[in-house]
Amino acid sequence: MADMKTREAAFHRSARGALVAAVLVTALAARGLAKIPAPATSPGTAAGASIERGRYLTHDVAMCVQCHSPRDEKGRLLEGQEFLGAPMPIQSPYPSSARFAFNAPNIRELARSHGDSVVRLLRTGIDRNGKAADLPMPPFRMNAEDAESIVLYLRSLN
Ligand code: HEC
Repeated sequence: MADMKTREAAFHRSARGALVAAVLVTALAARGLAKIPAPATSPGTAAGASIERGRYLTHDVAMCVQCHSPRDEKGRLLEGQEFLGAPMPIQSPYPSSARFAFNAPNIRELARSHGDSVVRLLRTGIDRNGKAADLPMPPFRMNAEDAESIVLYLRSLN
């Protein structure tokens, strides 16, 4: 009987230990995320960055255009209004506690006014406010060339 008690106590101790470890790991992971260093971010300085590459990435690869652009009543992208921002045409498939954005902002404007933070976002997933951008914005991990190409391209649109 005493033996059972001892074993039970040992179990509780190790369960508590595991919980503390889990919390610590999560906290450290969160700190690690917040500490991702902001890369050097002057759009246009990476070797090979180009407007044409930015067009290709935003339209054909990373599909920014699909979320960040307004559509007509048939769901077709409105020509000439690409990247000017749009509501998310979907409901959140995540548990209600997960943060989810119902609006994709005007990224022509953001590329112009906050180019450095757009580059940082595309390279680290961290937004202007220093947090991970809300879903469904994908957490991109682009290289400098790609991120800067996108900012150059968005700035080239009038
Ligand atoms: C699946 C849809 C989706 C795709 C694809 C997508 N975005 Fe987003 N994006 C969003 C949503 C939604 C938000 C708003 C997130 C928030 O409010 O935190 C957002 C936010 C942003 C922001 C603002 C971040 C800030 O600091 O506030 C920028 C800049 C951005 N996206 C650029 C891009 C670029 C460039 C691409 C392509 C490389 C892209 N997005 C692809 C949905 C998307």
